[in-house]
Amino acid sequence: MKIAIDGPSASGKSTVAKLISEKLGIPYLETGLVYRTFAYLSLIKEISLENIDALFSEKIEVIPKVGKTVIKIETGEIPEVELRTEEVGKRASQLGAIPEFRERINSFFRQIIGNNQIVVEGRDAGTHIMPEAEVKIFITASPEERARRRYEQLRNLGAEVSYEEILQKILERDKRDMERPLYPFRPAEDAIIVDTTGKEIEEVLREILEIIYEHSEHSKST
Ligand code: DC
Repeated sequence: MKIAIDGPSASGKSTVAKLISEKLGIPYLETGLVYRTFAYLSLIKEISLENIDALFSEKIEVIPKVGKTVIKIETGEIPEVELRTEEVGKRASQLGAIPEFRERINSFFRQIIGNNQIVVEGRDAGTHIMPEAEVKIFITASPEERARRRYEQLRNLGAEVSYEEILQKILERDKRDMERPLYPFRPAEDAIIVDTTGKEIEEVLREILEIIYEHSEHSKST
């Protein structure tokens, strides 16, 4: 089964996608982390946003595993705390606004996915990367709750951050991702919307697993 899990930043989609992958024992592709890897490389190697060819000539290996997406660059794995910064997130969102970049990264994703059973998580897994997915979930939460979650995630990784600043950056990033003229960020027409505001992760997981089981029962009976 192919499962697409999309949603805005810090909506909880990565936590949910990871748990669904573990529960079902199928690999997990976190597309945002791949965007962040390209963004990180463009920052440290000072590759301009116009030079998409140079970015794609970088050696990046993406290995979806159960519960984790392993990414290797020339020098090995990048420490997660360096990929999760708001600076890298902002650069990733700027890259995401470039149509040529999106087309190339999407065909890179499609090669990785192939005919495999997989959980693909991002912004456009259900609309552009894997429109054929059997189950599409769109996860949302209020901006304040998302800022609080991102704040805790970064603090747990050891970063010094301010809640207000994170909230501001999240609002800016949402605006840029939703208002870009090509490939604007929106749920797929056949996606099921799950609002996680005020819900515990167990409750969200139960809700989504139910949707998945219902779908597989339904396809068995048709
Ligand atoms: O999911 P995330 O916050 O780690 O993603 C970082 C940025 O990458 C996000 O602001 C927009 C971009 N992105 C995208 O445009 N499409 C994706 N499928 C994944 C990420």
